Amino acid sequence: MTTTDSWTADARAGALWPSLLPPEQHGKDELCAVSAEGVRVRFADGRELLCASSGLWNTNLGYGNEAVAEAAAEALRSASYLSTFRYENVYARRAAEALVQVAGAEHYGRVLFSTSGGAANDLAMKVARHCLALRGEARRKVVVGLRGSYHGLTFGGFALTGEDLGQQLYGVDQRLVRHVPPNDPEELRTLLARQGGQIAAVVVEPVLGSGAVPLDEEYVATLLRLREEHGFLLIADEVATGFGRTGDFFASQRWPAPPDLLIASKGLTNGASAAAVVLTSRAVADVFHEAGAVLSHGETQAGTPVTCAAILATLAEMSRLDAVTRARRLGDLLTRELDALAAGHPLVTGSTGVGCFRSIRLAAADGSGAPFPQSEVPALVAAVRRAGAIVHPGLHGVQLVPALTYTDAEVAELLACVRAGLDLHLAATTERAGVGG
Ligand SMILES: Cc1ncc(COP(=O)(O)O)c(C=O)c1O
Repeated sequence: MTTTDSWTADARAGALWPSLLPPEQHGKDELCAVSAEGVRVRFADGRELLCASSGLWNTNLGYGNEAVAEAAAEALRSASYLSTFRYENVYARRAAEALVQVAGAEHYGRVLFSTSGGAANDLAMKVARHCLALRGEARRKVVVGLRGSYHGLTFGGFALTGEDLGQQLYGVDQRLVRHVPPNDPEELRTLLARQGGQIAAVVVEPVLGSGAVPLDEEYVATLLRLREEHGFLLIADEVATGFGRTGDFFASQRWPAPPDLLIASKGLTNGASAAAVVLTSRAVADVFHEAGAVLSHGETQAGTPVTCAAILATLAEMSRLDAVTRARRLGDLLTRELDALAAGHPLVTGSTGVGCFRSIRLAAADGSGAPFPQSEVPALVAAVRRAGAIVHPGLHGVQLVPALTYTDAEVAELLACVRAGLDLHLAATTERAGVGG
């Protein structure tokens, strides 16, 4: 046996190194997807599961949307590859215009293309720092994020991410980042009073992905007031909350005033292509335009014809399917179902989130009243899988992020899978305690 043979045999995993899976789970057919259609994903072990994570919160219109597939294929045939790097292309022009229209053309003026949520967070922080430098405030470089937030795992986004996911290990430089607790205006006020003159931007998820915690109205009002007082740029990271997910096209459209920059990614092409955008207010765009400034950012794969055709088709499909109204209706149904689940299951203590962006909060199975142990969440996710549905791990529980096109019957099926998964987990825990005792 050669070294290579023995290495492959030992790893039993093949060449693919999947993200964020522990090594003992590499190479498992039950976690290897083969195809997807509607709201179901088929796996290499032959099972077909109901997807309640919308492909990482991405296929908001379900899998296999024909109009998006057709538009992407047509763009590939007609234009192959065209960039937005030192050039423009007409697909990117059209997609930018359409995005400004849905976000609000009275406020947003321009669109920068990127390729992932993390990269778009890097880009937004660069826009903010450059904008303030052009306004004569080059010393303002600090970016404030929220504790518990998630902004991706690129070096910039990782620095801004407000949970400890190994930033120190990877040498992520967080010297120009500060974190404050969400929904706590006092800490932000204190930070601004001390360091306001150094702060370029505050970046918030309108609903924090980890735990599906919405920013409350008072906090948003304070953020907007503090922006006026201190002159930082307010950035809404709507990578997860955009494209109808929370029951509005963008969650920040509920705010009394819009952010200066809006980041979108998931749902943008209904998962067809690696895509992200940063929408800039007219005021921010004007600062660059008037200074004749060139922003030092560009990505080879950003704003290509296939991406932009998919964006345009996704927007058209959202309108045809009335996806935002459906999301709102579905959100109401989820609220009723989750309330019933909380009232009827011993592990469920409640739920958080809005629209089609939900997190189920759980208590420990030992009856101690403590929160569900985070270390047991993967086992619970696996139990729900055994019962037939894909759910995302959450904070002391699991997250439900269904496609906006779910039918009522699919909601009922999902809730049945979650109940069955919780029962399986409860039974396994009780048995273990019995054996242990
Ligand atoms: C709010 C938010 N920002 C950024 C990201 C990172 O996106 P990506 O995985 O495309 O880099 C995510 C991904 O879940 C997200 O939810």
